[in-house]
Amino acid sequence: MLTTSTIILTLSSLAPVLGTTTYKIKDTYIGPSFLNGFDHWPYSDPTHGRVNYVDQDTAIAQNLTFAEGKTFVMRADDTTVLDPNGPGRNSVRIQSKNAYSQSVMVLDITHMPDGCATWPAWWTTASDWPTGGEIDIIEYVNGQAPNHMTLHTSPNCTQPQSRRMMGTTTSTDCDASVNYNEGCGVQSSYSSSAGSGFNSIGGGWYAMERTSSSISIWFWPRNSPTVPSTIKAGSKTVNPGTFGTPDATFVNSQCDLNSHFEPHNIIFDLTLCGDWAGNNYPSNCPSTCVDYVNNNPQSFSDAYWDIAGLRVYE
Ligand SMILES: *[C@@H]1O[C@H](CO)[C@@H](O)[C@H](O)[C@H]1NC(C)=O
Ligand SMILES: *[C@@H]1O[C@H](CO)[C@@H](O)[C@H](O)[C@H]1NC(C)=O
Repeated sequence: MLTTSTIILTLSSLAPVLGTTTYKIKDTYIGPSFLNGFDHWPYSDPTHGRVNYVDQDTAIAQNLTFAEGKTFVMRADDTTVLDPNGPGRNSVRIQSKNAYSQSVMVLDITHMPDGCATWPAWWTTASDWPTGGEIDIIEYVNGQAPNHMTLHTSPNCTQPQSRRMMGTTTSTDCDASVNYNEGCGVQSSYSSSAGSGFNSIGGGWYAMERTSSSISIWFWPRNSPTVPSTIKAGSKTVNPGTFGTPDATFVNSQCDLNSHFEPHNIIFDLTLCGDWAGNNYPSNCPSTCVDYVNNNPQSFSDAYWDIAGLRVYE
């Protein structure tokens, strides 16, 4: 919800609106509130990973999902040798019950899944994909930093090569039906935005702002001197005008964001191999991707999310 002062400013159109929007806290997910605010998604992985997504009861019973105090952990099973003809490695995918449009999402995260074969993602999407659009905020494969930020849409949505952001454009057509659904991507400017570099510093904060004119993503490493005080404090209001230059931004000059993006649910998942991690399994990882997943449970001890909090502002 916009504040009164923002509405007056917007209606007056005399001052630039950019950077003046204050958002108020709508939903806070910390520890056990993830179990109420999100559903576990126990279905077959649409990206063909070597995983078996389990329901909430199973995830808790096997301690793949752990929610206590201010801690929320989601992991892949790291003890079971798999039958090559049986289901994939147990893992977790969760989806928020609430959906959001214009909003700011702030994630305080201390660890993300790392290692060969892993493909973790924090993203938002609508039920009618790709018509309702997809925003990938955290995504990387096989432990290879940095983070990649990507939109996937229906046709007629592209991005200019050059935008006001820190990261590097890797592709410009967001249309999911072309280029093998590569989407329009940005590679993070921070080597510590993913993987072992991220985990070794205790992670940090990610923020995503979605409006009808832009979608922007910021990352602040845990030890960064530039973390906005409102982000660090988990304040009741935030103003992206104080966030600095985004790591990635997507604009509406060649893409009508209103018609390409519907209200989105929030998803966290961890798949293994599959369309991206499996098809790009690097030569410095052992064996083949699927064999590695089947036979080396102990190698997945670092394949977990540890989330200190998710705050959604509107
Ligand atoms: C479950 O996972 C949490 C988080 O990693 C850990 O602290 C806890 O010791 C685990 N519990 C058991 C019974 O293994
Ligand atoms: C493509 O999008 C532009 C706005 O970005 C719009 O003016 C145009 O009509 C669209 N074309 C089609 C074929 O939908």
